[in-house]
Amino acid sequence: MSENSATLNADGMTVDMPVKSGTIGPDVVDIRKLYGQTGLFTYDPGFTSTASCDSAITYIDGDEGVLLHRGYPIGQLAEHSSFMEVCYLLLNGELPSADGLSEFSRTITRHTMVHEQLSTFYRGFRRDAHPMAIMCGVVGALSAFYHDSTDISDPEQRTISAHRLIAKMPTIAAMAYKYSVGQPFVYPRNDLSYTGNFLRMTFAVPAEEYVIEPAVEKAMDRIFMLHADHEQNASTSTVRLAGSSGANPFACIAAGIACLWGPAHGGANEAALNMLKEIGTPDRIPHYIERAKDKNDPFRLMGFGHRVYKNYDPRATVMQETVREVFTALKVKDPLFETALRLEELALNDPYFIDKKLFPNVDFYSGIILSAIGFPTTMFTVLFAIARTVGWIAQWNEMISDPGQKIGRPRQLYTGPAARDYVPLTER
Ligand code: CMC
Repeated sequence: MSENSATLNADGMTVDMPVKSGTIGPDVVDIRKLYGQTGLFTYDPGFTSTASCDSAITYIDGDEGVLLHRGYPIGQLAEHSSFMEVCYLLLNGELPSADGLSEFSRTITRHTMVHEQLSTFYRGFRRDAHPMAIMCGVVGALSAFYHDSTDISDPEQRTISAHRLIAKMPTIAAMAYKYSVGQPFVYPRNDLSYTGNFLRMTFAVPAEEYVIEPAVEKAMDRIFMLHADHEQNASTSTVRLAGSSGANPFACIAAGIACLWGPAHGGANEAALNMLKEIGTPDRIPHYIERAKDKNDPFRLMGFGHRVYKNYDPRATVMQETVREVFTALKVKDPLFETALRLEELALNDPYFIDKKLFPNVDFYSGIILSAIGFPTTMFTVLFAIARTVGWIAQWNEMISDPGQKIGRPRQLYTGPAARDYVPLTER
């Protein structure tokens, strides 16, 4: 075996496979010729050991609790940057100049309005529809409105669709919220920041002026930054897989939203706050920790554990600090924050969580802030979707721009019946 290849012995065959190295992170065994040479597939349900693509966007070291976007640590971005700048960075690979950032922000701002006809879609939904259900439908419907940016072979159209998606998501999300509470839609305003505009579209009513609280705007912008991208997670992989068939970007992002909705992924922030409410007071925590450890009980500590992080999720650290900042600025207290802190402390000292390396993830504290800002729990995953849109679209564009890109088509280990003859109905 040469230094940069791996040898597999199976079924009496010996195959050498190249080992490829990235900039940082684990090397990968390139198995693309394995089936052709041996007739064997690899087997990895849940992709626990599979790198599905090359990517230069985001890097995670789960053991060390490191998250880098284009090389920049998330903690530094959260402290010094803004969501618009992070969007530019993810899409373009480098931080913008001051002029570049203003130009990018202006471009996004110019795309925040949605086609007026789109508002009629909302009326087709029941008022009690989950806003994520509305998001899946309305974002998918964008494909029917913006035909001039669905030719995926044209880089300029891909850029326009990226700008449209990033710009319109807050508008669509705020409209989903307004519809659910029976209030009129609020149009975007170009003199506000991306985040301030979203807060106003969500919380303003025609009857009175809406004043954006700077601390809330800053916290919300940081929450968007923390969720902007996260390597090849389930929804991003969904977007890539959908896009690999040549589907248009609006349809692909709608697929990502559907995947994000699940409680093991983006739905965990909603589930985490519901769990904290159910636990209620710190004295009830031990009972729930016992339940989480019980193999016969489906209960899990929501906002805890991660496929990649086997250390403290760096986003959870920033999120915990942000809770304190928002509470101080708004002069509020939430007993659930005390419950969350105590739950974290007890879990992190429990051998079950220590042995399995289960730490709080980004969703553990986010619900507490979002609730303090005034969002109902059903909107939490929607906010995640607004922020992750840039990651999805950056990853989608990276894939489409790759000349070696192929349709994603995994294989399987078939365990059903072997070929058998059809039995007529009268003989069954
Ligand atoms: N509470 C109790 N036990 C847990 C938890 C938890 N939250 N998470 C994992 N475990 C146990 C699990 O039972 C398993 O035990 P065993 O090895 O004895 O069977 C072991 O830890 C490994 O868990 P897994 O389910 O095999 O790991 P995974 O990588 O497939 O799942 C996860 C990762 C995030 C789905 C899982 O940790 C989980 O369900 N957490 C709660 C939901 C959550 O907070 N999700 C948000 C993830 S971060 C945001 C995002 O990516 O969207």
